[in-house]
Amino acid sequence: MSADLRGYTVLVTGGSSGLGFEMSKALLQSGATVIIAARAGERLERARAALAAAGDVHAVAMDVRDETSVAAAKEWFERNFRRLDMLVNDAGIGFNAPGMEGLAPEHDFWDIPAGAVRAVLETNLLGFFLVSGSFVPLMLRNGGGSLVYVSTSDATMTRPGQLPYGPSKAGAEAMAAILAQELKPRGVRVNVICPGGFTDTNMAPPGLTERMRAAGLPVLPPTVLNEVILYLASNPAADLGGEKLVGKDFAQWRSEHE
Ligand SMILES: NC(=O)c1ccc[n+]([C@@H]2O[C@H](COP(=O)([O-])OP(=O)(O)OC[C@H]3O[C@@H](n4cnc5c(N)ncnc54)[C@H](OP(=O)(O)O)[C@@H]3O)[C@@H](O)[C@H]2O)c1
Repeated sequence: MSADLRGYTVLVTGGSSGLGFEMSKALLQSGATVIIAARAGERLERARAALAAAGDVHAVAMDVRDETSVAAAKEWFERNFRRLDMLVNDAGIGFNAPGMEGLAPEHDFWDIPAGAVRAVLETNLLGFFLVSGSFVPLMLRNGGGSLVYVSTSDATMTRPGQLPYGPSKAGAEAMAAILAQELKPRGVRVNVICPGGFTDTNMAPPGLTERMRAAGLPVLPPTVLNEVILYLASNPAADLGGEKLVGKDFAQWRSEHE
């Protein structure tokens, strides 16, 4: 879809890679100012440089698990930007969490190191809380905005083998549902989005994408959420809140809702 997002400012956590990187590119190409956030390091700077040709992009180091880092990113944001229209909470980890790499595919749940569980919950759930808590008040200053959480398919939340990732996303969706109700009267729309299946990004353990393709299993492209995020940033979605939009099925959803 085409959207005119000139004058619209978006912060994308996890913008250094995968779905967040591609959504940032689509938003930039539609004229938005985009701030990508991820942990400090070369990957963030490489992503900013790669996106520079697409539009007005900026990068800020922010570890979503760490309130001091989030507070510093917020201060930087306030020094450099007048308003925030959309916050995309995309930063996330799963089977790439530290300590998960040694696990056999058929492991028992008690084999999962506590540190890996902690890292996944802190990134996917606590991170959503910390970043939203810091940046939503900035949206309220300009009368509201759009808060987005990048989740997973419903089936992934409770499928065997999906500890601790599934519950982290289930918890975050419960939080999104609460925020959708609490923030609606104050002009902030809260929606959840997800790809709708396994997506080719850096989150996949090495070799898995190739094995899935070889087995004829579906692999979604990392651009699968681009149309969804452009839609949420544009006028047709001005009243949409408390929804879960699935990238793979979005064209169908749109044809049924417009
Ligand atoms: N790939 C899939 O099949 C799939 C399916 C459903 C949902 N999702 C969700 O999509 C979102 C994006 O994942 P992806 O698939 O695009 O994976 P990805 O390519 O690994 O990207 C993850 C992003 O999160 C950032 N990140 C991780 N930990 C962070 C932290 N503590 N603070 C700040 N940023 C952090 C990473 O940046 P740095 O490492 O540079 O900090 C990176 O930019 C996740 O929430 C994931 O759960 C993915």
